[in-house]
Amino acid sequence: MSLLLEGKRAFVSGGTRGIGAAICEVFAREGADVAFNYHSRDDLAEEVKAKIEAYGRKALAYKVSVTDRFGMKHIAREIFDAWGPINVLVNNAAVNKGDNFATTTDRSWDYVVDTNVGSLFAVTKPFYKQMIRAKMGSILNITSVGAIRSLPTSVHYATSKAAMIGFTKCLSREAANFGIVVNAIAAGIFDTDLGNTLPERLLQMHDFWVSKGRTGKPSELAEYAAFMVSDRNSFMNGEVVIVDGGAVT
Ligand SMILES: NC(=O)c1ccc[n+]([C@@H]2O[C@H](COP(=O)([O-])OP(=O)(O)OC[C@H]3O[C@@H](n4cnc5c(N)ncnc54)[C@H](OP(=O)(O)O)[C@@H]3O)[C@@H](O)[C@H]2O)c1
Repeated sequence: MSLLLEGKRAFVSGGTRGIGAAICEVFAREGADVAFNYHSRDDLAEEVKAKIEAYGRKALAYKVSVTDRFGMKHIAREIFDAWGPINVLVNNAAVNKGDNFATTTDRSWDYVVDTNVGSLFAVTKPFYKQMIRAKMGSILNITSVGAIRSLPTSVHYATSKAAMIGFTKCLSREAANFGIVVNAIAAGIFDTDLGNTLPERLLQMHDFWVSKGRTGKPSELAEYAAFMVSDRNSFMNGEVVIVDGGAVT
């Protein structure tokens, strides 16, 4: 059987840590050239680049925030000039803060919502335009079960992740006209820096409430993501798939 992503060119937002780093690696193993961006850690970017290249794939890394519209347009053009159009986009980068709603500051609300929601426009639009011209593409948005269940997580974060679901569903209608699909994964709790900032009471109850009895590994989400954006997943659009270890709903 051929590799899932042979010949694809992918862009992953937030590729240096956690789920994004695992997606970069699994996509490269499955045959894709992978470009990604990040916010702070140059050392981790070099490590992820080396892992992609170790599979014999091309890698590009950019220190540009997902909130920087101009910067995102610029790197999308640079990648296009180097490789041609991106045909797989993963909107993965996000931030969270452990706030109670009553004491959330303006600054904290804006930080989470601007990063997690603002990025959907800044990151997606330039790559979507490349996909439209190529008349093909797959966009995968990494949202959270916090958007669809009443969990004791932060309200700004849950709100931003719920926005991602509306974005997925609505854009999928327009995108279908151009041979592009837009889907989402609603992740449960995964063992990453962000996952470990979740409230202690949520982490404690998690292992009882999930039938797998543990948190997920980033690679487990990445393996599923590779199938979702592949041509073998040919009849799904506007869908949100829950990958959470089997929670009680
Ligand atoms: N882990 C979980 O339990 C869980 C559960 C549900 C959903 N999710 C979702 O899964 C996705 C990945 O989460 P994660 O747990 O892997 O997070 P993580 O470990 O905190 O990693 C986040 C990644 O995003 C990058 N990033 C953050 N802000 C950025 C910005 N402004 N511009 C560019 N890159 C930025 C970070 O790069 P720097 O290091 O350079 O900042 C890092 O590479 C998120 O969408 C999250 O909402 C996670």
